[in-house]
Amino acid sequence: MSGSPESAAADLLARINTKIPHAARIYDYLLGGKDNYAADREAAEQLIKLSPGTREGVRAHRDFLRRAVHHLAVKEEMAQFLDIGTGIPTQGNTHEVAQQANARARVAYVDNDPIVLVHGRALLTGSPTGRTSVIEADLREPKTILSHPQVREVVDFDRPVAVVLVGVMHFITDDEAPYDLVEQYKAAVPSGSCLLLSHITLDFAPDLSEKFTKPYDKSTAPMVPRTKAQVERFFEGWQLVDPGVVEVVQWRPDRYQEPIPGDGHAWAYGGVAVKP
Ligand SMILES: C[S@@+](CC[C@H](N)C(=O)[O-])C[C@H]1O[C@@H](n2cnc3c(N)ncnc32)[C@H](O)[C@@H]1O
Repeated sequence: MSGSPESAAADLLARINTKIPHAARIYDYLLGGKDNYAADREAAEQLIKLSPGTREGVRAHRDFLRRAVHHLAVKEEMAQFLDIGTGIPTQGNTHEVAQQANARARVAYVDNDPIVLVHGRALLTGSPTGRTSVIEADLREPKTILSHPQVREVVDFDRPVAVVLVGVMHFITDDEAPYDLVEQYKAAVPSGSCLLLSHITLDFAPDLSEKFTKPYDKSTAPMVPRTKAQVERFFEGWQLVDPGVVEVVQWRPDRYQEPIPGDGHAWAYGGVAVKP
């Protein structure tokens, strides 16, 4: 059985640590998914206690991903996507949204959590003409990702690529050089490529800073909220698409937008920019 799909799946399952909260599984729980464990649910419930609108905020964040990917496929004519920090597959995955607009759209998915790979099959379906791949890798290793054969077989880096970093850069600490990392992905794609990025902020609740990041302290990655100016810096040198970097709920909202209870903020900024 060694080397078989069964042994690969058994290996992935063995590496899943159910004892500590994982970002992907906390997110899954908040989105109403089933791929989470007691440690994840406990961390998520702490967030809900701090901010009763957490679930709606997370749904709004996910909904921003849908609208922005649709925009990229339709208005910016993006046919290739590199989606890093993919998350556990749920409704409206990047390839499903992109391929609805362009059946030939290709998506390379990257996540450093083995649980995403366990459910990776859901990311490998899609239109017969489009293509997807999914790899386990860390965004802090751009060279590994950018040269990975399964990324290269789906994405042609000589043609425009949409780099998708939605809900993931706040897991990279300042010591890990988040801006340099994003610059490396920006440098790897040609003119006409796009960056879609969103990020958690505490601009609307600065007093909560310590309490809000606490549930993540025991998890696989700490949470680093950033200000609007700090989020804008990720897009430096590229042309921001209207309305710029704004709260995710304000980025081209459509009729599916649900209101956020409490202060009405989703506590996240997002934007899309084009490489000149
Ligand atoms: C909050 S989820 C966002 C999922 C998806 N992008 C979305 O917007 O619905 C963050 C994801 O990033 C992944 N992640 C966190 N740090 C990462 C890293 N250093 N490299 C790759 N993936 C990472 C987590 O495993 C998780 O699946």
